[in-house]
Amino acid sequence: MGDEFSQTVSLNRASSITIVNRRTRGGMAEIFLAVDGAGHQVIVRKLRKEHRFNLRLRRRFHQGIEMRRKMGRHPNMVQYISQAGGLRPYEVIEYVPGDSLKAMIVNKHRLVQEQPFMLLRPAIWAVSHVHERGYLHLDVKPENFLVEYVGEGCRVKLTDFDFCQPITTTQVHRKFGGSLMYEPPEFLSNKTVSPRTDLFALGVLGYYLFSYHMPFVESSHDLLKNKSGNIVQFSASNPRLSQPVQNFLMQAIQPQPENRFARGEAMLAALDAAETEHRSRLEAPRPPRPPRVLGN
Ligand SMILES: Nc1ncnc2c1ncn2[C@@H]1O[C@H](COP(=O)(O)OP(=O)(O)O)[C@@H](O)[C@H]1O
Ligand SMILES: [Mg+2]
Repeated sequence: MGDEFSQTVSLNRASSITIVNRRTRGGMAEIFLAVDGAGHQVIVRKLRKEHRFNLRLRRRFHQGIEMRRKMGRHPNMVQYISQAGGLRPYEVIEYVPGDSLKAMIVNKHRLVQEQPFMLLRPAIWAVSHVHERGYLHLDVKPENFLVEYVGEGCRVKLTDFDFCQPITTTQVHRKFGGSLMYEPPEFLSNKTVSPRTDLFALGVLGYYLFSYHMPFVESSHDLLKNKSGNIVQFSASNPRLSQPVQNFLMQAIQPQPENRFARGEAMLAALDAAETEHRSRLEAPRPPRPPRVLGN
């Protein structure tokens, strides 16, 4: 870790963290794999060096750490362990061995192909938990879900709380998160936010997960410009995109917030219903073929 961060960092008298290697560099943070005093692998997420004199970013990063701490324990959250302040604050968090959901979709991972419901459902649980704790996440996108492989299945965990705001926030005076593609039209036009902002982003994520492409050409503004013309068409050859799944996804990304899911519970109930109907269609016996007319 070089000059800025010595190989062993004492977080408190009881534990020390030893950096193993740098995993990646995100927009806000550098991510290091480390080992704690008890020999467990952990992640050290440290503000990027170039942001250290940017008071606004440092404050936001610190708020993100506090938000993660406030989320408490949840099976679908990347767990807070400890933190340190200073010019380059960092947090120590649970290590999730696996991939980001984004990488899984890009690579069409087996679970993405075979178990899209199993991936989307815990993503909704996680966001619902953030709302129940009294916050908006405001950076819901597949890059911010980490997936741990467990046997044949997986565990999906939400991370990156840098843009979290209290749920009572109705407007934010900045561009949220990184990706225009996950922001609903009302955010793009007047910066209004609500739980529906995160649920819209989950809808876009679901659309991407099930269809392998984004619903809009440029941004959700396309939806307002031309109500449906600019929504990328579902691929007719994708057997996972049955009508009930398509209906669910379309409701999740409706341009008018009042037409979308208001709460995570409602979105989950709709996903469950869509999955049940989807499966019953798969299992339904095929209708008998019409008799072939000889000579045609
Ligand atoms: N707890 C973790 N376990 C494993 N990999 C992680 C963990 N946290 C972050 N990463 C990796 O680092 C990337 C960026 O992390 P993130 O917290 O979203 O930072 P940023 O604010 O820079 O986007 C993730 O997409 C993932 O690849
Ligand atoms: Mg991120």
